[in-house]
Amino acid sequence: MTQQVYLPDDIPAVGKKILTDAGFDVIVGSGRDRDVMKKEGSNANAVLIGTQPFDADIMDAMPNLKVIARNGVGYDAVDVEAATERGIYVVNTPKALSDSVAETAVLELLAISKNLYQDSKAIYDDNWKYRKTHPGRDVAGKTVGILGFGRIGQQVAKKLSGFDVNVIAYDPFAKSTDTVEIVDRDTIFKTSDYVMVHLPALPETEHSIGTAEFKMMKNDAYLINLARGIIIVESELVDALKNGDIAGAALDVFEAEPLPVTDELVSLENVLLTPHIASNTIETNARMAVDATQDIVRVLHGDQPNSAVNRLDD
Ligand code: DGY
Repeated sequence: MTQQVYLPDDIPAVGKKILTDAGFDVIVGSGRDRDVMKKEGSNANAVLIGTQPFDADIMDAMPNLKVIARNGVGYDAVDVEAATERGIYVVNTPKALSDSVAETAVLELLAISKNLYQDSKAIYDDNWKYRKTHPGRDVAGKTVGILGFGRIGQQVAKKLSGFDVNVIAYDPFAKSTDTVEIVDRDTIFKTSDYVMVHLPALPETEHSIGTAEFKMMKNDAYLINLARGIIIVESELVDALKNGDIAGAALDVFEAEPLPVTDELVSLENVLLTPHIASNTIETNARMAVDATQDIVRVLHGDQPNSAVNRLDD
């Protein structure tokens, strides 16, 4: 019987072609609703997902599943243990998106420093004078502290190399380079003008940045998070932003997504909020679709995937 690949969200054509060329039926679904996915994917041998939760209950509704492919790098929303117990590979696309995420991170650093959003909004609000009371800040000469010096953190450092900044990083698994000094965690918070979060969401990093860290930070420092919302205690960040413990924050990820418009963060002036767009570019979406579908083909053809995050016993 022809094997079936279920795509709850549509993907670029280049990815679908890889699947159809390999002889699979491609089912483009109608979104991420749990019950809809359970129904639409009930005959699937493979599924390609975004950041939606994918737990044992959904896996059990798809009894023929051999591989769950994550269209991206973070797999915190997938119950990997449950997948492993069921003999299902979980694969991701870590090589496809570092450039894009790092570009967006640098963009957000610059944008929050120059009040880009609020200044632009002032024009639409017919308030040209806003700029007088809200001067921006220069980035040159400042210290940027990167939490998590993996693929993305390293790309951020590389892209910042022309900005005349001192880059330091914290990562228990990384070594200093010619241009980036690895320091202890507290040093990042105490000395950085920009704290950039590029950590994976793990039990150890979950809610690991809160009041204690914001109190360590300089009052004129910024927090920039493009990793996962769950790493930060959002209510404590709101307090720090309101109390002036830190100058501002640029956030692409949130504890709850979509971020409700009623969330207190939305009412603050010293934040830049973007809707989880760091890797959402035409080029990166295509690269992720290629990497993910190629691994689906490998698994459904009985080969080893290139980027499995779990190991299955033979
Ligand atoms: C990732 O790859 O995990 C990004 O957050 C986009 O999903």
